[in-house]
Amino acid sequence: MTTTLAVAGKGGVGKSTLAALLVHLLSSKKKLLLAVDADPNTNLDEKLGVKADTSVGAIREDLSKTMDSLPAGISKPEFITLRIQQAITEGDGFDLLVMGRQEGPGCYCYVNNLLRTILDNIARKYAFVVIDNEAGMEHLSRRTTRNVDVMFILSDPTRTGIMTAVRIKKLAEEMKLGVGKFVLVVNRSGGLPGSLGELASGGGFASLEPIPEDEALCQISEKGLSVADLPPSSPFRKAVERMVSSYT
Ligand SMILES: Nc1ncnc2c1ncn2[C@@H]1O[C@H](COP(=O)(O)OP(=O)(O)O)[C@@H](O)[C@H]1O
Ligand SMILES: [Mg+2]
Repeated sequence: MTTTLAVAGKGGVGKSTLAALLVHLLSSKKKLLLAVDADPNTNLDEKLGVKADTSVGAIREDLSKTMDSLPAGISKPEFITLRIQQAITEGDGFDLLVMGRQEGPGCYCYVNNLLRTILDNIARKYAFVVIDNEAGMEHLSRRTTRNVDVMFILSDPTRTGIMTAVRIKKLAEEMKLGVGKFVLVVNRSGGLPGSLGELASGGGFASLEPIPEDEALCQISEKGLSVADLPPSSPFRKAVERMVSSYT
């Protein structure tokens, strides 16, 4: 059984930091873990302290040109599976797969359908899958993020932030993405003041998790360090430790 955790929310709200910490903390459980960077403006690899060289998007582009001249003796699904497996970057206790750019102008429906099945088959071999999504919600309609046990939707402690989080949740429900539980994560905040609290509870989230402001993160992003360098006293790290024990 694979436990899939996804992180969503508007831009700059802390998605990649949360995803990277989930990966870091879960990887110490000594189980197979796949991190998926589904943001085309990717930087999850840096936050995890590895360097990813290629992406599923780049492979898709390449395949769309060479699909008719594949090596003999290997089926198309086998060949694509091999290519995707080669694109996986090995980290300390986790594997990383970068999705890269989504479909270009042409429609490679055949390749895309194959890719979806292949990615599902690859993900199934892991105990945990952690998906860092791109900002906004339009990507949810591509339905690449499916069958998620917990979707963490991040917000800042503002009215617009919470309203966006509620919209993302509604869209994910409408798209029938198969999300088990929606958790509202309010970043850079100790909790929500009165009226915002009401707005959030109206959204019907399973729970609310606050993450306080964390000065140690400035150092991390300035120097391009990985989240593994956050000290044990880091408030962000402590908040995610709590989430790991509550939701996995
Ligand atoms: N709780 C926090 N305290 C301080 N800085 C934070 C906090 N959460 C996120 N940041 C900083 O905000 C910036 C954006 O975070 P990031 O995780 O890249 O957002 P996203 O992936 O949603 O675009 C980063 O520089 C990160 O270090
Ligand atoms: Mg990000």
